[in-house]
Amino acid sequence: RIVHVNGTYVPEEEARVSVFDRGFLMADGVYEVTSVLGGKLVDFPGHLARLRRSLAELDMASPATDDDLLAIHRELVARNGITDGMVYLQVTRGAPPDRDFAYPNPPVPPTLVLFTQSKPGLADSPMAKTGMTVVSIPDQRWARRDIKTVQLLYPSMGKMMAKAQGADDAWMVEDGVVTEGTSNNAYIVKGNAIITRDLGPHILSGITRAAVLRFARESQMQVEERPFTIEEALTADEAFVTSATTFVMPVVRLDGQPIGAGRPGPVAARLREIYLEESR
Ligand code: PDD
Repeated sequence: RIVHVNGTYVPEEEARVSVFDRGFLMADGVYEVTSVLGGKLVDFPGHLARLRRSLAELDMASPATDDDLLAIHRELVARNGITDGMVYLQVTRGAPPDRDFAYPNPPVPPTLVLFTQSKPGLADSPMAKTGMTVVSIPDQRWARRDIKTVQLLYPSMGKMMAKAQGADDAWMVEDGVVTEGTSNNAYIVKGNAIITRDLGPHILSGITRAAVLRFARESQMQVEERPFTIEEALTADEAFVTSATTFVMPVVRLDGQPIGAGRPGPVAARLREIYLEESR
């Protein structure tokens, strides 16, 4: 694989990041994941806009212009022959000479790393047919989940808690209501209404979420951006999650109980279809 590090393209074996990098020492970094379908970047402007916002919220310097970031994405897709897959981008506050909690002053250049992952048949995931299972766990992440930081330890632990219970993923619960999945936004469907948590510091503003809610509204579905409980989810007709890597993925069981018919529902299937159509 050819990866990108700070302005240069190198084979992955030759890529180097300092041991003093604040991304490594302090999780002082942000990231984006953009899917590639048929060689095309999906929702790239949205991911770029969210990256800009994450950088601004953390007073982190920009590693490159928008045009350069787009060009690097395209170049990596081409050089690695990616048809279906994803591009991962990470920016950290760089590698100051000493470990210190305070941000380096004067600042050091940010570290920019990008790599690709090939996932042939990404859009035809078998899970879209069977649906996935989730369990509820407490949301023990920090309180600024609207910033897409590389602090992913609790979501990783959440995935392991789900696996330990024989489930695919976890929905996180705070103050009695669902925030989101470990790496996706969470939805339930009741009648003609699609219900998902309202935006704020408690969840990540999903780029897929924005597109899916737009398509839902355009298709005359009713969208309710509000909190919901696990109890309400258990009485829903359908459930699903969205993310750049899973698009729209049906959820068929929650805490061991079937949701609706216990099979992927028509609303999730329709939204997945529209999303994939619009993305190709
Ligand atoms: N995760 N919520 C969380 C906590 C996430 O980590 C993600 C994405 C989303 C969905 O956002 P989007 O639709 O913009 O991908 C919601 C990415 C895919 C990841 O960490 O791999």
